Amino acid sequence: QAHTPLSGKRALVTSGPTHEPIDPVRYIANRSSGKQGHAIAEALARLGAAVTLVSGPTRLPDPPGCAVVAIETAREMLAACEAALPVDIAVCAAAVADWRVAGTSDRKLKKDGGGPPSLSLTENPDILATLSQAGPRRPALVIGFAAETGDVVAYATAKRARKGCDWIVANDVSLGTTTFGGADNTVHVIRADGAEAWPTMGKDAVGARLAEAIAAHFQTPTP
Ligand code: C5P
Repeated sequence: QAHTPLSGKRALVTSGPTHEPIDPVRYIANRSSGKQGHAIAEALARLGAAVTLVSGPTRLPDPPGCAVVAIETAREMLAACEAALPVDIAVCAAAVADWRVAGTSDRKLKKDGGGPPSLSLTENPDILATLSQAGPRRPALVIGFAAETGDVVAYATAKRARKGCDWIVANDVSLGTTTFGGADNTVHVIRADGAEAWPTMGKDAVGARLAEAIAAHFQTPTP
């Protein structure tokens, strides 16, 4: 018999980087591979959830059993997430660009002899915070990620409060670890009742274990 503890539940997962245009041919991006977010989406679908995966550009195949919405910018990601509501579960694993270029050019910026252009940046919407504070439309369980380079649990605990989400999955991305782009992940899961350190494992295994924890939460709610 299939193990489908999340059947009847709707889940939204964000994954990958965002691309923020500078002009029609250039953009600002980051090194997110999308591996962790895609693995979570796939694992939730395997447990029976109806999953919408909102993803920035990655080299990954669409995970089986998920409805995939491809976006490029943070603002497109937010719009796609809002369109996916209502959901029971939201997992924000995307590496959303904090800033976008203000006043992007419709034409390719030229080397006109006047020296390099200066880019002025403006803040992007915070999708995790928006979903966490969405009032009656707030998903029952909102999970964010935190990439930190030291004092991982302390910073992630503060981030959990600041964003208003329920759980934070925190990883150490200090120099020498290969979390960004790599196959493995070492995480701490922070909830209202404290932090739990998980051993280093593949991102697929982190996705599977997180999906199991989510399923357990809906069976016996934890803080
Ligand atoms: O604030 P910081 O970027 O460190 O927070 C990381 C968490 O917030 C991740 O879950 C990420 O997906 C989410 N985030 C977001 N929208 C942003 C910035 C971060 O959803 N603009």
